[in-house]
Amino acid sequence: MPSRALVTVAWPHVALLVTFTVSHVHPSPCPRACLCDNIQLTASCVGKNLTEVPPTVSEITVKMDLRGNSIQELHTGAFQHTPYLTHLSLQRCDIRQVREGAFRSLGRLIFLNLANNNIEILYQESFDGLSSLKQLLLDHNRIEEIQPGAFSQLGFLNLLSLTHNQLVYLPNMVFQGLQNIKWLRMSYNSLNTLDSEAFAGLFTLTRLSLDHNELQFFPTEALTRLPELTRLELSYNPMTYLGEETVAMSKLTHLFLDHMSLQDFSEMALALAPNVVHLDLSHNQLRNLQPLSGPEKLLRLNLTGNPFYCSCYLRPLREWAYQGRVRLLGTCAGPPHLSGESLEGLHPPELRCQSQEAMLKAELEELSRAMPSPTPQPDEVKCPVNCNCEAESHHSSCENRGLTRIPRDFPPDTRLLDLRGNHFHYIPSNSFPKVPQVVSLHLQRCKIHELESGAFSGMRGLIYLYLSENNLSSLSSDAFKGLPQLTYLHLERNKFTKFPKDAFRLLPNLLALHLEHNSIARLDQGVLTGAQKLRGLYLTANSISTVAPKAFHLAPFLKVLHLGGNRLSEVPTHALSNTPSLSELRLSGNPIRWIGPKAFAPFARSLQHLFLDNMRLEKMSKDSLAGLGPGLLSLLLEGNQLEELPSLHPFTGLEVINLAENPFVCDCPLLPLRKWIEKVNLKVRATCGHPPELKGRKVKDVHVFKACPGEKPPPVQMSTGHRAPKVTRVTSAHLSNRAKVKQQRGQKAVGTPRTAK
Ligand SMILES: *[C@@H]1O[C@H](CO)[C@@H](O)[C@H](O)[C@H]1NC(C)=O
Ligand SMILES: *[C@@H]1O[C@H](CO)[C@@H](O)[C@H](O)[C@H]1NC(C)=O
Ligand SMILES: *[C@@H]1O[C@H](CO)[C@@H](O)[C@H](O)[C@H]1NC(C)=O
Repeated sequence: MPSRALVTVAWPHVALLVTFTVSHVHPSPCPRACLCDNIQLTASCVGKNLTEVPPTVSEITVKMDLRGNSIQELHTGAFQHTPYLTHLSLQRCDIRQVREGAFRSLGRLIFLNLANNNIEILYQESFDGLSSLKQLLLDHNRIEEIQPGAFSQLGFLNLLSLTHNQLVYLPNMVFQGLQNIKWLRMSYNSLNTLDSEAFAGLFTLTRLSLDHNELQFFPTEALTRLPELTRLELSYNPMTYLGEETVAMSKLTHLFLDHMSLQDFSEMALALAPNVVHLDLSHNQLRNLQPLSGPEKLLRLNLTGNPFYCSCYLRPLREWAYQGRVRLLGTCAGPPHLSGESLEGLHPPELRCQSQEAMLKAELEELSRAMPSPTPQPDEVKCPVNCNCEAESHHSSCENRGLTRIPRDFPPDTRLLDLRGNHFHYIPSNSFPKVPQVVSLHLQRCKIHELESGAFSGMRGLIYLYLSENNLSSLSSDAFKGLPQLTYLHLERNKFTKFPKDAFRLLPNLLALHLEHNSIARLDQGVLTGAQKLRGLYLTANSISTVAPKAFHLAPFLKVLHLGGNRLSEVPTHALSNTPSLSELRLSGNPIRWIGPKAFAPFARSLQHLFLDNMRLEKMSKDSLAGLGPGLLSLLLEGNQLEELPSLHPFTGLEVINLAENPFVCDCPLLPLRKWIEKVNLKVRATCGHPPELKGRKVKDVHVFKACPGEKPPPVQMSTGHRAPKVTRVTSAHLSNRAKVKQQRGQKAVGTPRTAK
């Protein structure tokens, strides 16, 4: 057994070999029940029926794995022989008691896992001494009591996990001292009361999981003590209603109240939660909901699995969602003819009431809602030959009838007109007279190659226009004349080779423009003239290679931009310098090989989803993501040629990241990434591409980083961001190269790595 420890430090340009001898530790001890690696400094004693912490493990051990033993009690000073531990795993050890000061010597410990034991009480000094600890896992124990002060010395803790325990109540100040806590998990307990000061002192907490508990009331008071909270999970608690101003949390963005027993949800419940963007109310007992006051940035409202009754009383919600661009998820449970219809697909006029009186009221509302009805209600429903007109739903359809001319004489109160799959070839002016109430017009697959000016004149209520899968290659500037309400325009899968620039001038309410799968080659300045409210522009799968510097300047509210599958060779930063609300940018599949500094800076504050996958991307400047921060929720970089990455540390809000299929160079410059991976609770999917012997291994599993210097990567590395890969490979810290370097330098071999048994 080697009696000395070898520590190799690999710098990017210079290879240094540093050895030192730990003289007072003799024959590097390894208890018989354990496997020790004196290079990686790990000791693993898994599943060995040990009844105590093995006392003879090498003092310099940094990772100790004691899972699956029978330790029962951790007495005071149980780890005093291993003061350098950074990781300690103690799951399934039948631990019942953690005595005060059990971890007192472990000032370097970062990660402590005590899950799946039988701990019942956390004493005041149970975790004393753990001054560097970042993650503490206590899931699946029997904890029913936490003594105040139990966590008071854990000033660096980021994650505290207490799921699947038996907590019934939380006393005041119980979490005091957790000055850096980010996420507190208490799912699957039996909490039914939270004292108003239970969360006092948690000034940095951003995420709180309280799902699967017994809370009957929203703990408003206690939660107001969490000024930074952005995500709150309260799913599966037996609450029946939320009253006015119940949720008073100014930074909250994601609120989960699904699978509860809510029968009533006050329209003012979120009046003091102005930043909520995602509200999940799925699987409750709500039959109706009024428009919510307060969260003006709401994007998604999940109402799946509620028994919604889609009558005129639901209209305000539907209209509010439409006007506020809120996505409504869920379906109607009744009345029978609307059962199963998606809430979002409903047009307000379809939401009717049974009683004569309510019906009249609804009619009146509808009339006052913009459209003067030009014709009186006819006595009998008229309908063109070969078509179907349903009086009750106001749907008229002549789908796939081989028609060559647009039929006339649809019922004047038609809301949905479906003409897809015919052979119109071109649409003359004024093709839709006398149907001013149509909301949705379907003209897909009609072989249309031309729209005459004013083709849709008179369709004052049109909101959705589908012209997908036709032969359009250009549009005259007044093709869409007379459509003041048009909001969603589908022109995907046509034959455009140029952006149909002037056609949108007359569409002041256009929110979403679909032009996917055309052959547009460039985006010039002013392409969006007139569409000043545009939120979503979809240009996936065109041939765009050039984007003029001010291409999107006229659409300052642009939120979603899809440019995947084009021929861009760089990120169109300048074109987007005036789109401060951009939240989703997709550039997947473009031949962008390099991303320079501040590429996303103009919209860094709003960007939430960034797609940079499958681009053959080789290098990202270390400042390429500058400005982006906790607001970033998804980052997709899979399928590129990246060997290293800029720092991901600022992205504390990430929910999705994919780094798969990149040939990362697993060597010291990658250490910051490796550390980040260890810290976050996400599936990252990064694998090594170099050096050859580590190819295919997960970055989080390789041990090569052990040999890297210190906590921080060398400063040289940080400041250049450019590194010649070849040099790195020569100096990489894997063992065979180490040996080579040693030989080259004529140094005495100090010891060979070996696993002691
Ligand atoms: C641990 O103890 C159990 C029960 O005493 C026994 O069945 C098992 O073989 C022991 N395992 C080892 C690795 O000694
Ligand atoms: C909405 O809720 C359902 C059921 O809880 C869930 O499956 C779905 O993923 C949710 N959708 C969104 C967009 O959150
Ligand atoms: C429409 O486009 C298809 C495919 O390019 C072509 O085969 C067809 O002849 C075109 N039809 C008209 C009427 O232009």
